[in-house]
Amino acid sequence: MKVTVVGAGAVGATCADNIARKELCQELVLLDIKEGFAEGKALDITQTTSLLGFDTKVVGSTNDYSKTANSDVVVITSGIPRKPGMTREELIGINAGIVKGVAENILKYSPNTIIIVISNPMDTMTYLALKSTGLPKNRIIGMGGILDSARFKTYLSLAMNCSQNDLQATVIGGHGDTTMIPLTRHAQYQSLPVSKFLGAEALAKVSADTMVGGATLTGLLGTSAWYAPGAAGAMLVESILRDEKKVMPCCVALEGEYGQSDICLGVPVVSGKNHWEKIIDMELNAAEQAAFNKSADAVRNMNSVLATLSL
Ligand code: LAC
Repeated sequence: MKVTVVGAGAVGATCADNIARKELCQELVLLDIKEGFAEGKALDITQTTSLLGFDTKVVGSTNDYSKTANSDVVVITSGIPRKPGMTREELIGINAGIVKGVAENILKYSPNTIIIVISNPMDTMTYLALKSTGLPKNRIIGMGGILDSARFKTYLSLAMNCSQNDLQATVIGGHGDTTMIPLTRHAQYQSLPVSKFLGAEALAKVSADTMVGGATLTGLLGTSAWYAPGAAGAMLVESILRDEKKVMPCCVALEGEYGQSDICLGVPVVSGKNHWEKIIDMELNAAEQAAFNKSADAVRNMNSVLATLSL
């Protein structure tokens, strides 16, 4: 198996590091446009091989896509990250051109690959990758909901003083501060609804903290987060390459599911060998469906900006 991570910034390098440690593939290529940068990160990760006891070959490349040939999965993290006060949506003008170019170059050498999109604004970049490459919808997956759900579990566990690993919690909708939907009604602790343990006010705070989870970190760090985004990307790669068929909220093309079409948006999907396989219906109530529709409207609005850019 071979994986390529495009973009050797903090998110890409962390994702690559996780993939290498987990030995998800024999060869991992890290590619960046900045001269020597990916080679440096790849060599640094390679030097942890005997320290951490893994055996993945990690190769760096400065924009030489021939090194990525025959990748089974490609993770796109390229583009500029958020600065404090910026929304993910403000990145569209720069990142759209970058993501489109990366996807085209990747497909020249790996026509059968699955593409995972992490670049922001993630929902629109996933839609752009789908439309510009013309790949079958099952081979394009945006990662955002896995990260947002991990943050949801973090805030729930802090409020409940429990292990994150005993929680089931899902965020659907867009990967934006106002478009994501933490499904508090569906969240469970040991198969019990979390509303048994947290009052409405505490749950509303967990939900609000989750929605601005990325912005909170951008404020603290001065740039986008990387540990959780990188780990979330690697978890998706793992479910695909190991054919785990895990259910994780991911941004995929909807064709009538959840009442939406011609859009890529976060819903729980089963991912396994070769592609994302199916969408799980969370049976939303009227309020949740209304929130999902509102999220779709906002993402569709952002997608319409693509037509105004000269890509
Ligand atoms: C975040 C960025 C990676 O949410 O979208 O941290």
